[in-house]
Amino acid sequence: MKGVRKLFPEEFCRRYEQFIPDFDLFLEAMLTPLPKVFRINTLKAEPEEVMPLLAELDPEPLSYLRFAYTVKNGRGLGRQLAHFLGLIYIQEAASMIPPVVLDPQPGDKVLDLAAAPGSKTTQMAALMRNRGLIIANDLSLERLRGLIGNVDRMGCLNVVVCRADGIVLGRKLAASCDRVLVDAPCSSEGTIRKTEEALRRWSVRGIANFSRVQKGLICAGYQALRPGGQMVYSTCTIAPEENEAVVAYLLKRFPEAEILPVELDNFVMRPALTEWEGDTFPSAIRRCRRILPQDNNTEAFFVALIRKPDDVTS
Ligand SMILES: C[S@@+](CC[C@H](N)C(=O)[O-])C[C@H]1O[C@@H](n2cnc3c(N)ncnc32)[C@H](O)[C@@H]1O
Repeated sequence: MKGVRKLFPEEFCRRYEQFIPDFDLFLEAMLTPLPKVFRINTLKAEPEEVMPLLAELDPEPLSYLRFAYTVKNGRGLGRQLAHFLGLIYIQEAASMIPPVVLDPQPGDKVLDLAAAPGSKTTQMAALMRNRGLIIANDLSLERLRGLIGNVDRMGCLNVVVCRADGIVLGRKLAASCDRVLVDAPCSSEGTIRKTEEALRRWSVRGIANFSRVQKGLICAGYQALRPGGQMVYSTCTIAPEENEAVVAYLLKRFPEAEILPVELDNFVMRPALTEWEGDTFPSAIRRCRRILPQDNNTEAFFVALIRKPDDVTS
């Protein structure tokens, strides 16, 4: 196991073994390639129409996500006709959880504040059965090109694409959205299983920089919510500075914000932290959830579900 540790920065291990008791299992899982997962695009097809096209890959349903399947040998998945036709969307399993927790309804006005390349936008369009409106925003023009391609291929008709700083856009749309997704830019520690790039770029200073942007985005997302509206804040990273500390910042600025429990059947999630390196977080933050790779064979994620009370007017 010592050998495995050597593959990670010393500081990475020092930080995370403090709150991941099965740390060796965690490191092993971080070095194991991810299973290939896809979801059926229900805007275009029913599972019984798509499955015969993929029979040679022998897909197995995931017990915790409707319309999602894993394949043992995923190499050929991106070359399948079903993929080109937009009948399926290849997406990591944990990345499908934030939209499921947000649960947008047909007819809702949804703001996807950091949306590119549109995995969760297209998933939400399917959940909303192409009704209502999704404002899919991102700062990066290059990444928005990918989003536009995905939105077209998946046949999403309720998406408008916008390029703005989410911090500005959220404020402009004040108190107008039923649902907001803030799938924030982050240090992406959770994607180390997919690409070693995340590990090469890893630094505590990088984490601090992301934390600043995330605090701006979570507050702007909250401002965009109508009274009674709900927001999911998610990251694919482990750093508490980018997760619990960001939610704590929101609670400091908007003490009335409610943190709701995050639940999903047949899927293991761990409670969020209540303290980190000398900082104590409000106890409600424990209702947020951490997804660790060794628990469900996925990427790592963090998911917070936040509600604006009915009697808040701005
Ligand atoms: C984790 S990725 C989003 C993934 C996307 N939600 C999906 O499921 O496909 C974070 C995104 O935030 C964008 N971003 C970074 N800073 C931003 C800002 N200030 N406003 C809006 N988007 C921003 C990045 O360009 C990146 O595309």
